[in-house]
Amino acid sequence: MEYIQYLNKKMSVLGFGGWTLGNNSNGKIMSEEEGIKLVKRAYEEGVTFFDTAPNYSLGKSETIIGKALKDIREKIIINSKFGHHADGKIDFSESKIRESIKGSLKRLKTDYLDSVILHNPDMTILKGETDHFKVLESLKEEGLIRGYGVSIDTPEELETVLKNQKVDVIELLYNIFFQSTRNLLKEAKEKGIALVIKVPLDSGWLTGKYDIHSQFSDIRSRWTNEDKERRHFLVNEIKNYVGENDIVKYAMNFLWANDAISTVIPGIRTEKQLNSHLEALAFDYDESLNDKFEKLYDQFIANNPLNW
Ligand SMILES: NC(=O)c1ccc[n+]([C@@H]2O[C@H](COP(=O)([O-])OP(=O)(O)OC[C@H]3O[C@@H](n4cnc5c(N)ncnc54)[C@H](OP(=O)(O)O)[C@@H]3O)[C@@H](O)[C@H]2O)c1
Repeated sequence: MEYIQYLNKKMSVLGFGGWTLGNNSNGKIMSEEEGIKLVKRAYEEGVTFFDTAPNYSLGKSETIIGKALKDIREKIIINSKFGHHADGKIDFSESKIRESIKGSLKRLKTDYLDSVILHNPDMTILKGETDHFKVLESLKEEGLIRGYGVSIDTPEELETVLKNQKVDVIELLYNIFFQSTRNLLKEAKEKGIALVIKVPLDSGWLTGKYDIHSQFSDIRSRWTNEDKERRHFLVNEIKNYVGENDIVKYAMNFLWANDAISTVIPGIRTEKQLNSHLEALAFDYDESLNDKFEKLYDQFIANNPLNW
């Protein structure tokens, strides 16, 4: 495992996307025991960065991470969020920030968060027209959090944050199919911002395991037949380039090969999936493939972006 410095700790380049913890994946719900075992195993394999949020499995994701890692708290980085709450409600009022963080701390069995992220806030917040960043700065001075940032998706949002805010971390939607922010990544790095890549596998498509016939009963039921047809075609293009059906290691290394990126946080649901990410880390990736994956995006997606 490789690490980069983040605040006062070592951030592993493979992070853990905690949305899966305790969650429903196509009808299968992960138990607390399974989640704790998986998180402990990830730590034993060198993962130090854990991403979660109050609303992930309505508090269960934070609870699982807290139970699994409370004894080695100083060695790990916990990145939680604000805005989507453990009762399923969405409320970005500044006055709720402290209370929300206190709830996270209780579930995570800790007395500080390494960072808290505004969980897809609107443009007025990103532009600094509200007091959110002032509140976060004062919580940082108080020691309740050690850093803060935002989770965002689009070039407009990223440009706005880079122009207006001094954040420690940005969690960004970026993968072979979502590269609209490509030209802004370098600027984030130059500003010393840790870039955390969410949804690195396009919610599973960039593993190569889904096709036009795949059925989804969880949050992924959002894809229309047209969304699935386009992804089916694009995944096949990648399989043809690389000559393999399992494309996890290519999708992950596409991101790790990019200097501006600090860590990548796939949603991990099983030990087998964790193992495959560890194998991807050890894979001797041909970095010239990044050009091919950029051209694929430019040719088939840039002018007609996929729906998330
Ligand atoms: N707004 C936000 O801030 C936001 C939004 C989305 C995600 N996130 C964060 O980013 C993390 C990652 O995003 P995500 O979980 O939505 O999408 P993702 O990482 O692109 O895809 C995760 C899915 O891919 C499959 N998978 C993962 N590793 C695999 C492997 N090695 N082999 C085969 N299949 C594998 C699993 O599907 P199956 O379940 O079908 O096995 C898993 O549920 C989340 O967990 C969360 O921490 C943040």
